[in-house]
Amino acid sequence: MPLVPMRQMLDEAAKGGYGVGAFNVNNMEQIQAIMEAARETRSPVVVQASRGARKYTNDKFLYHLMQAAAELYPEIPMALHLDHGNSFETCRSAIELGFTSVMIDGSLREDGKTPSDFKYNVELTRKVVDFAHARGVSVEGEIGTLGGIEDGHGAGGSGLEHLTDPDQAVGFVRETGADALAVAIGTSHGAYKFSVKPTEAVLKISLIKKIHELLPATHLVMHGSSSVPQELRDQVNKYGGRLKPAWGVPVEEIQEGIRHGVRKVNVDTDSRLAVTGAIRKVFAEAPEKFDPRDYLKPAREAMQQVVAERMRQFGQAGHAGDYQAKTLEEMAELYAGAPKAGSGCSCCCGGHGKGKKK
Ligand code: 13P
Repeated sequence: MPLVPMRQMLDEAAKGGYGVGAFNVNNMEQIQAIMEAARETRSPVVVQASRGARKYTNDKFLYHLMQAAAELYPEIPMALHLDHGNSFETCRSAIELGFTSVMIDGSLREDGKTPSDFKYNVELTRKVVDFAHARGVSVEGEIGTLGGIEDGHGAGGSGLEHLTDPDQAVGFVRETGADALAVAIGTSHGAYKFSVKPTEAVLKISLIKKIHELLPATHLVMHGSSSVPQELRDQVNKYGGRLKPAWGVPVEEIQEGIRHGVRKVNVDTDSRLAVTGAIRKVFAEAPEKFDPRDYLKPAREAMQQVVAERMRQFGQAGHAGDYQAKTLEEMAELYAGAPKAGSGCSCCCGGHGKGKKK
């Protein structure tokens, strides 16, 4: 299957009432792990690359690995998404390279660290939406600011400092026309999200419910959604790692989010933990080995296992054959026919940028 526009994938997920895991990649083994998991579970999937990943791999390698995945797994709908774009330029270059979806994170300034203001966020996101939609490419925006730091991007903190304001979220979607909205509900990137099993005091699923009530047709995105399972952490530590105890986002909380409008679920840390644990095991148990395939193969298998498990838990498993990919040209025509963002339309078709009338 050719690469699928993410908007189409999330529209289908909304129809089916499931979430789609968006898994980060930095190299060939990770892409292979995700695609094998998608084949094993017959899942549509978002494969996403951060700015850090683009720099690490060099854009061309990354893009051609994705193209290879699309060719080798023709039965799998796959969206290629830029994670946390920090500027119009970063998004433009991803679109020109062939990404079918971009995130513009205007919740932070271009340095990727300093929280911005609402006006800055709306103007930047709208500029990216105009450019992307004219080319049929989907856009994810962010309102509120996530905690933690991923690949050098993030405001740091616990994730509770800049929670999403539901009324601002409505205005943001109406003014920008973004296809998907990342919300800050207390999650953060990385392995250290919570010191105890999270409750509503720190992981505000009620905020998702509120935002979904106000924007029923907007696809919500949960970042920082790794569950950081104890067995993955234990495996790393058993073979010489030094990870501190911590909690991630319990899968049942993600599933509750999915019941209330979450359509894209971002997972990176769990994959990293699986890969690291498997590599450490080989190094510890067979120190005589020096062929990278001896440790990269088990690493790939360990990542496949965790990704496949998440695909089943998020509900995307079994949905790979539900639809044919729309072309970017078809998407561009659909966008061109939709009312313009910020045009004052008061319907509740939030998916095209219109908030429910309040
Ligand atoms: P985790 O660090 O929880 O895997 O989050 C990844 C993420 O949100 C990527 O944008």
